[in-house]
Order: sequence, then C-alpha cells, then structure tokens
Amino acid sequence: MILTRSFHLLATACWFTTQILGDLTCKTTPLDSNWPSDADWTALNVSINGTLIRSAPVASSCYDGNPFNSTETCEYVEANWKLATFHAATPESVNAVLFANNSCLPPTESDFTVQKGCSIGGAPQYVVNATTEAQIAVAAAWASERNIRLVIKGTGHDLNGRSSGAYSLSIWTHNFRNIQFNASWPLPGCNKTEDVVIAGSGNIWHDVLLAGAKFGKVVVSGGAYDVGLGGFIQGGGHGPLSSTYGLAADQLLQARVITTNGTILVANSAQNQDLLWALRGGGGGQYGIVIEYILKAYPTPSSVVTGGLSLSAVGRDNSSIAALWNAFGLLMQSLPDLMDAGLAGAMTATTPGSISASDVALSSRGLSAEISFFGYNITACEMTAIVQPVITKLRAQGSHSSFAITWDKPSTFSTFSDFFDSTNGSPSSAGGGSMMSSRLLGRGELSDSTQAQVVSYLQRVMTPQNESSGGFMVVGLQGGPGPANVPKDMRGALNPVWRSAYLHTIVLGASIDSSSDPQTALSSAAEWVNSYTEPIWQQWAPASGAYMNEGNPFNPNFKHDFYGTSYDRLLEIKQKYDPTDSLFVLTGVGSDRWDYNLNTGKLCQTSEK
Ligand SMILES: Cc1cc2nc3c(=O)[nH]c(=O)nc-3n(C[C@H](O)[C@H](O)[C@H](O)COP(=O)(O)OP(=O)(O)OC[C@H]3O[C@@H](n4cnc5c(N)ncnc54)[C@H](O)[C@@H]3O)c2cc1C
Ligand SMILES: *[C@@H]1O[C@H](CO)[C@@H](O)[C@H](O)[C@H]1NC(C)=O
Ligand SMILES: *[C@@H]1O[C@H](CO)[C@@H](O)[C@H](O)[C@H]1NC(C)=O
Ligand SMILES: *[C@@H]1O[C@H](CO)[C@@H](O)[C@H](O)[C@H]1NC(C)=O
Ligand SMILES: *[C@@H]1O[C@H](CO)[C@@H](O)[C@H](O)[C@H]1NC(C)=O
Ligand SMILES: *[C@@H]1O[C@H](CO)[C@@H](O)[C@H](O)[C@H]1NC(C)=O
Ligand SMILES: *[C@@H]1O[C@H](CO)[C@@H](O)[C@H](O)[C@H]1NC(C)=O
Ligand SMILES: *[C@@H]1O[C@H](CO)[C@@H](O)[C@H](O)[C@H]1NC(C)=O
Ligand SMILES: *[C@@H]1O[C@H](CO)[C@@H](O)[C@H](O)[C@H]1NC(C)=O
Ligand SMILES: *[C@@H]1O[C@H](CO)[C@@H](O)[C@H](O)[C@H]1NC(C)=O
Ligand SMILES: *[C@@H]1O[C@H](CO)[C@@H](O)[C@H](O)[C@H]1NC(C)=O
Ligand SMILES: *[C@@H]1O[C@H](CO)[C@@H](O)[C@H](O)[C@H]1NC(C)=O
Repeated sequence: MILTRSFHLLATACWFTTQILGDLTCKTTPLDSNWPSDADWTALNVSINGTLIRSAPVASSCYDGNPFNSTETCEYVEANWKLATFHAATPESVNAVLFANNSCLPPTESDFTVQKGCSIGGAPQYVVNATTEAQIAVAAAWASERNIRLVIKGTGHDLNGRSSGAYSLSIWTHNFRNIQFNASWPLPGCNKTEDVVIAGSGNIWHDVLLAGAKFGKVVVSGGAYDVGLGGFIQGGGHGPLSSTYGLAADQLLQARVITTNGTILVANSAQNQDLLWALRGGGGGQYGIVIEYILKAYPTPSSVVTGGLSLSAVGRDNSSIAALWNAFGLLMQSLPDLMDAGLAGAMTATTPGSISASDVALSSRGLSAEISFFGYNITACEMTAIVQPVITKLRAQGSHSSFAITWDKPSTFSTFSDFFDSTNGSPSSAGGGSMMSSRLLGRGELSDSTQAQVVSYLQRVMTPQNESSGGFMVVGLQGGPGPANVPKDMRGALNPVWRSAYLHTIVLGASIDSSSDPQTALSSAAEWVNSYTEPIWQQWAPASGAYMNEGNPFNPNFKHDFYGTSYDRLLEIKQKYDPTDSLFVLTGVGSDRWDYNLNTGKLCQTSEK
C-alpha cells in the first residue's frame, strides 16, 4: 500500500486514523493533552545535568521582535546559512532545511516568504546537548516512555533531513569527538588484534583523517570535509578509499550504542552481534544512538595521484552531439576495468539548459563531463598509462571538430591528507534541499550492455523535469574491488548489491516548487521522480539497488532498493532494539508503518498496518 505513496494521500490517511483510533496511534505532540508540561521538561533537564535546550530557531533574529530570542544576529545567520558547518553547530538546525519545513528561514533565502514567519515547525522541540552517555540514556528512555518521537543528529548533514523531525526530542552527538588510533586493539572473542581508530560518533571525517595522518593511518571516510561518522557509517559510507577497502560500514568492529529504553550496549563480534550486523549498513537513526565506533585503520598510501579527464561539446550539429554522447557512454562502460586496474574517483556530468526550442530534446543537447581519477601508490605516468587506452577509444568516437577530450597531467600528493584537502579542505554548502535519485551500477549495466543501450539510458535518466533547465549527474567510482573483497565476517546488513556494484550514480532532475509549502513541493517532486526516474533505473538495473544516504527519500521500492535481502532481518532487529518505534526516519526499516506529514508535523501509524 505504500506503492503509490503520495503526501496528499498520507495526510488523508493520517487524519482518518486519528479520527477513528484517537491519538494513541500517533507520536505525542504539544497539541496533545499528555505532552509533558514545562515542569516535566524542567525535571528532565535537571536529571540530565542541564543539557536540555529548548529549540530557538537561529534565524529568529531576522524576524520582528526576535520571537525566539536567538543569540545570533540576523547578519551572521545570513552570512553563514549556506555553510554545512553552521547548521552542524546549531542545535535545532540541519543542512536540508526544506525537509524541516523551511520553518524559520533568513530573508536572503529564495524560499523565504514574510507570511510564513518563524516557527519551530519541522525542527525538534528540544535538543539534548549531551556530554555523557548517561544523559542520553535518561533522555531517550524518558521520551520513549512518553511516546515522544526521538531523532538523532550528528552533523545534520543528511540530504533528506533525517536528523530532524517535528515535535521530537533530538539527541545531539556533537560533543562525542574522541579520536584514538590503536594499532593493536584486541578483537573481542578472538585471539587477534586489529589496527583501528576508536572515534566518537560526533566527529567529522576531516578531523579523523587529520588525526590519522599523525600515525600514518587512513580510514574509509567520506569525500567531504564535514560529513560525520554517525549516519554515514550506518548508511554504508563511500569515499576515496571505498573502492580499495570496502565501504565504511565494512570497517566496523565495535559500536557503543544506547537503545531507546536507555540501555547502554556494546555491539561487537562477541556480544549483540545482531545489532553490529544492523549497524554495518542497515541505516542511521533507527536502531539506537551510537556513541562510539571502532573502525579498521590502514597504512597511508605512499603517494596519491589525481588526474582529470573531461569531455565537452564542440560541434552543435546532430552528429557531433551524437558522437559526444557515444563517447560518454563508452567512458561509463570503461570504468569497471579502470577500477579493477586500481583507479578510484568521481565524475560530474551536466547537460545545458535549452537554448532554443529545437534543442529541447536531450539527445540533441551537448554534454559536459569531468572525471577526477585517484590512484594510490602509483606514479603519474602509470596513471596516464592506465587511462590512455580509454582516451584512444573515446577519441575514435568522433573528430576534434565534434567534441573535445582533455587529459590533465596527473598531480602527485605525498600525503593522503594533502590529497583530501586539495578537494575537500573546506566546509560544504548547505541550507536548501533537493530531491535526488540514485542507482548502483555494475558490469551487467555497463561493460556487458551495448553502448547504444548505455547511451540511451543515460540520456533518459539525465533528462530533467523542467526541460529548459539542465540535467545533472554525479558518478562515484566507489564500489568495485573494495566492497567485492570484504571478508564474509566483516559483512553486515549493507545492501548485498554493493558487492557487485562499481558505480554509484546520482541524478538531480526534479524541480522543487518553492512557491508551495515544503510538503506539497516535496510531494510533487517525488511524484515526478517516482513516475519518471525510478522506472528508468528499474529498467536499466532491475536487480540492483540504490544508496540510501544519497537516494530518493520517497522511493516506493525503498525496501528492495536500499536494503535488498537484508530487509526482513533488519525489521526484526529494529523491533527488538526499538520496540517503541521511537526512532523514525524516511525510508527507514519499518518506516512504512508510519506517515510523517510536514504540514501537521504529526507522525502517525498508517491505518492498514
Ligand atoms: C556535501 C555532502 C557530501 C557528502 N558526501 C558523501 C560521501 O562522500 N560519501 C557518502 O557516503 N555520503 C556522502 N554524503 C551523504 C551522507 O552520507 C549523508 O548525508 C549522511 O546522512 C551523513 O551522516 P551524518 O551523521 O553526518 O549526518 P546526520 O544528518 O547527523 O545524520 C544522518 C542520519 O544518521 C542518523 N545518525 C546520525 N548520528 C547517529 C548516531 N550517532 N547514531 C545513530 N544514528 C545517527 C541520523 O538520525 C540521520 O538519520 C554527503 C552529503 C553531503 C550533504
Ligand atoms: C536546562 O538547564 C540549564 C541549566 O540550568 C539551563 O541553562 C537551560 O535553559 C535549561 N533548559 C531548559 C529547556 O529549560
Ligand atoms: C524571549 O525573552 C523575553 C524577554 O526576556 C521573554 O519574555 C520571552 O518569553 C522569551 N521568549 C522565548 C521564546 O523564550
Ligand atoms: C509547515 O509549513 C507550512 C507552510 O509552509 C505550514 O502551514 C505548516 O503549519 C508547517 N508545519 C509545521 C509542523 O509547523
Ligand atoms: C553544548 O555543550 C557544550 C559542552 O558542554 C558547550 O560547550 C556548548 O556551548 C553547548 N551548546 C549549546 C548550544 O548550548
Ligand atoms: C551529571 O553530572 C554528574 C557530575 O558530573 C555525574 O556524576 C552524573 O553522572 C551526571 N548525570 C548524567 C545523567 O549524566
Ligand atoms: C590499544 O588498546 C589496548 C587494549 O585496550 C591497550 O592495552 C593499549 O594500551 C592501546 N594502545 C594505545 C596506543 O592506545
Ligand atoms: C594466541 O595466538 C598466539 C600467536 O598466534 C599463540 O601463541 C597463543 O597460544 C594463542 N592463545 C590462545 C589462548 O589461543
Ligand atoms: C601503499 O603502499 C604502502 C607502503 O608500502 C602500503 O603500506 C599501503 O598499504 C599501500 N596502499 C595501497 C592502497 O595500496
Ligand atoms: C537533429 O536532432 C533533433 C532531435 O533529435 C531532430 O529534431 C532534428 O530533426 C535533427 N536535425 C537534423 C538536421 O537531422
Ligand atoms: C524551468 O527552468 C527555467 C530555467 O532555469 C526557469 O526559467 C523556469 O522558470 C523553470 N520553469 C518551471 C516551471 O519551473
Ligand atoms: C531495554 O532494551 C534492551 C535492549 O533491547 C533489552 O535487553 C532490555 O530488556 C530492555 N529493558 C527493558 C526494561 O525493557
């Protein structure tokens, strides 16, 4: 029944359920008589050492009378709103504010309207700025006993706002930032030690890599300065080293977890193995609050080489454009071999907005693609030698007057952190919201398909909803040998399709109508993605799946696409460790039992489950 998931239907179903069954089927909200009184919240605050924060939207200072007494000036908020680090440091805020209902925007934002005003809205009502495990345990149990929704925020980086939630109590792990590298950590239950990093879940990858550099160690991190450990690892987690060592979830040896009833647990190979299995890729924000991760560490590469290859249009005639697309298709088909030869990397591809009516069909448009290859422990010459045969094949697709290929002489970095900082040394952008769709592609969809098929799928999937705006795709060389070679005993719930995937592709083609409320805007964007984009992926890669941390949050096939064959076992584990369903996230395990509506802010059980 979730197959035709639409927010309008959901809103109706929720209203219906509430009327028939009463509010027991919904999480408690401040509109309910059993919502705790101010005195109750104060008592909680006392029991957690005064770490409770009442949400005070930071942009409140941009509104008449500063209704929430924000301590930051409006000028400061406006200047920092587009920075991920700002939202990470702000208790109630998240990157993708659209998914928190754009509840209190600064006037400089394009979605801002005076009429909407400033409210707590889609943000949590309260935030626990925890410094101890005990504070989290007390607060989580307190909320669960009261049928109050819990959310967990690390950085708030989530692209689909899954670290926020209306009428919730947020557990903020920002202060858990210990980092310790240990080359001989005794593996529980085994007569064996491991090279590890022990890291608090509130860390960002940049800090972990910086700390590792002092010990000559690297870890499987994300490819951005400020993505955090919390949800990244549990969702899978890819980055520059995932095609070498597997995903971040494949590195997990132990986690300290607080369950929603306030129990503090250790999950490793000797105890709570089912929980460890779930945390290895079964999705963030669902099973409990992870305080600390122990992850495998590796010796740093002796050198990192990066080289850039680009394709762009020259001729505007149909045959030039066709040659360019053929070259792009061939490049995609060549990537598995290049990855097996040791290269990692990432590509972006864009199509221009149409210039004239006759240019509207994507197949007649130009294209521009740029790929950055990464190679470890190889020389610049060796990288060129690996890439050169592919360049030769691409060149054969058309003449110099039809399209251009450039290959930049590779750069060599002597340390992994210099390499990382060269592209990821500063904060990411934030403060908006988009609707993406993802697919994992393997040899079957690439090298083993015909070039014409690959070109046709690429052209279709990159066509945007608004035909006069450009198409955009991100291709990560993040699967391949790494995930395929992860030992069986390190594999957890991570969607098994990762084991044969090479590329993680993301398209961003849906239009978000900022003139409607966020619920309606997301709903109509989702309708388009689900009726246009997802069917193309399903046709191209039916047996594959998608990456939940960078995927479509309203994907009706989320069980198959994000979890695959791990779903049923994950549902049992979710029921065991969070029997009160205190933790809900979009596309989470068991999330189809609940409907979340941004307009009402309510989280209610679906009527037919
Ligand atoms: C600019 C940018 C770059 C990105 N680059 C990459 C990349 O290179 N590779 C990649 O794989 N992904 C990347 N992502 C996606 C990234 O994986 C997700 O945004 C992920 O959710 C971030 O996790 P977080 O903990 O930092 O964020 P948060 O928003 O804090 O949390 C994300 C989810 O995890 C849960 N969670 C957080 N902490 C905990 C915890 N301690 N215990 C339990 N649950 C928790 C939250 O409840 C939420 O559901 C990128 C995203 C952005 C915006
Ligand atoms: C919790 O207590 C601290 C310390 O007394 C106080 O500063 C803070 O405002 C309180 N939080 C709430 C929500 O009352
Ligand atoms: C803001 O401060 C004023 C003056 O101290 C106070 O009356 C008001 O209740 C505060 N508002 C909030 C939302 O805390
Ligand atoms: C979300 O925003 C809409 C307007 O854009 C508003 O009507 C609605 O009340 C908001 N929801 C909550 C929970 O505040
Ligand atoms: C959160 O707690 C930390 C550690 O006690 C403190 O430094 C910080 O100021 C707090 N943040 C807020 C917004 O209260
Ligand atoms: C509150 O602080 C005291 C003293 O630092 C500590 O002993 C106690 O465990 C803390 N309570 C919680 C719930 O963390
Ligand atoms: C590594 O961990 C082991 C076991 O906890 C400990 O005995 C050892 O001192 C640690 N080493 C370092 C460098 O911290
Ligand atoms: C652990 O391994 C070491 C070296 O492999 C061996 O000498 C020792 O006997 C083992 N101990 C146990 C308890 O198995
Ligand atoms: C690179 O070489 C170093 C030094 O020999 C080695 O320790 C490391 O494992 C190698 N890394 C990769 C990714 O091959
Ligand atoms: C070029 O391609 C477009 C779209 O496919 C088509 O409409 C047009 O007729 C073609 N022009 C020529 C000259 O073939
Ligand atoms: C489509 O995109 C164009 C170019 O960005 C923009 O001017 C136009 O308003 C958009 N149309 C719709 C319906 O969003
Ligand atoms: C709390 O949850 C843990 C972990 O799921 C479970 O072992 C324990 O029995 C629960 N405690 C209570 C009082 O329900």
